[in-house]
Amino acid sequence: MSLVSDPVTPIEVPRGLKNVVVTETQLGDVRGGEGFYHYRQYSAIELAERKSLEDVWYLFTYGQLPDSRQLAEFRTTVAPLRRLPDEVRSVLRSIALAGATFQPLAGLRTALSLIGAARGLKPVYDLDPAQRQADALLVSAVTPTVLAALYRIRQGQEPVEPREDLSAAANWLYMVSAAVPDDRKVEAIERYLVSTVDHGFNASTFTARVVASTGADVVAAVAAAIGSFSGPLHGGAPDRALEALDAIGTPERTDAWVRAEILAGRRIMGFGHPVYQTEDPRARMLRGIAQDLGGELVDFAVQVERRVIAVLAELKPGRELPVNVEFYAGVVMELCGLPRSMFTPTFAASRVIGWCANILEQAADRKIIRPIARYAGPPAPQPVR
Ligand SMILES: CC(C)(COP(=O)(O)OP(=O)(O)OC[C@H]1O[C@@H](n2cnc3c(N)ncnc32)[C@H](O)[C@@H]1OP(=O)(O)O)[C@@H](O)C(=O)NCCC(=O)NCCS
Repeated sequence: MSLVSDPVTPIEVPRGLKNVVVTETQLGDVRGGEGFYHYRQYSAIELAERKSLEDVWYLFTYGQLPDSRQLAEFRTTVAPLRRLPDEVRSVLRSIALAGATFQPLAGLRTALSLIGAARGLKPVYDLDPAQRQADALLVSAVTPTVLAALYRIRQGQEPVEPREDLSAAANWLYMVSAAVPDDRKVEAIERYLVSTVDHGFNASTFTARVVASTGADVVAAVAAAIGSFSGPLHGGAPDRALEALDAIGTPERTDAWVRAEILAGRRIMGFGHPVYQTEDPRARMLRGIAQDLGGELVDFAVQVERRVIAVLAELKPGRELPVNVEFYAGVVMELCGLPRSMFTPTFAASRVIGWCANILEQAADRKIIRPIARYAGPPAPQPVR
């Protein structure tokens, strides 16, 4: 769909492209006013509550939910793709140990670029839909393995080989911890993973689509999306939300802590959202999951949430600043035994499926995304001296 009828006449759009429709998609949508989002024609939360990650991965890739035979075949197809190519194994150590702090997303970008080169990925422009799909499945399947291996090497441990007999969610926990996780943890993390596969035209998804619109290969588009995702305004704050809980310490300290943060000009991590004017439906679901898992941390988080909302309503009147996905995501991941440095990587391990679906959709439309900027510098041309 083109909204620009006359390419010569510039069209001014709001800063940050807020509320600008830039394309059509069949993949899903976020309805901020209602606190609802969907994957294709299904409620994402209902899918998270009832379907496996592989079901939803299939839905994004092929446009429909699989029946049991299709699901079994799909699992058989994607499980072997989890294995790291040999070319990457040999350099993974250097990538994981680079720098003073562990940067899993930077490492993922680097390793994926190498995998793309090693596997000879071709520009999507030159591929038929089946070949593009195959590349997308490879990148989505291998991403969690890369992230888990980087983490373990950084911890001074050996990477754990992926297990083909485990579901994607169970295998994720297994590759990070080297222990087969119990069913409750798998179920909790699987719901989180399903609920974060896609979420409208967010910055990383848009980035992936811009790169795909040039006809570049799937890894190029995913690596760009990871770069976009790594920014603090986007990639999420689940570890920061948990650090806030640590800093608050006890429920009765919440009000004073929030006031001090706001006075210092800081934001409260895990609250507010650019699209939702109401409670983030992912936060609602994750709160429920956390409460099912139970424990002191959950009770504490629920009390803190209530007080943060009350104090923000007083300090920021007229602003809707409800709890967002990050607040309880951190709690759920902590309860599932994931280390904090792997919170955002866990998000990336599922979002890569959404990026890939967007890349495939964009690649089918051979129109490059190429907006213009209004020049605001000194009048040109000036004499060149
Ligand atoms: C998510 C977020 C970037 C959305 O921002 P946004 O909708 O574009 O909102 P704006 O940046 O326009 O902020 C609007 C107002 O609300 C305030 N605000 C927004 N989120 C806030 C928060 N978490 N804590 C305190 N104040 C907040 C802003 O300071 C601003 O107030 P002002 O007008 O008095 O300056 C923002 O809410 C935020 O930074 N949240 C914390 C980080 C986080 O949880 N990120 C994960 C998102 S899923």
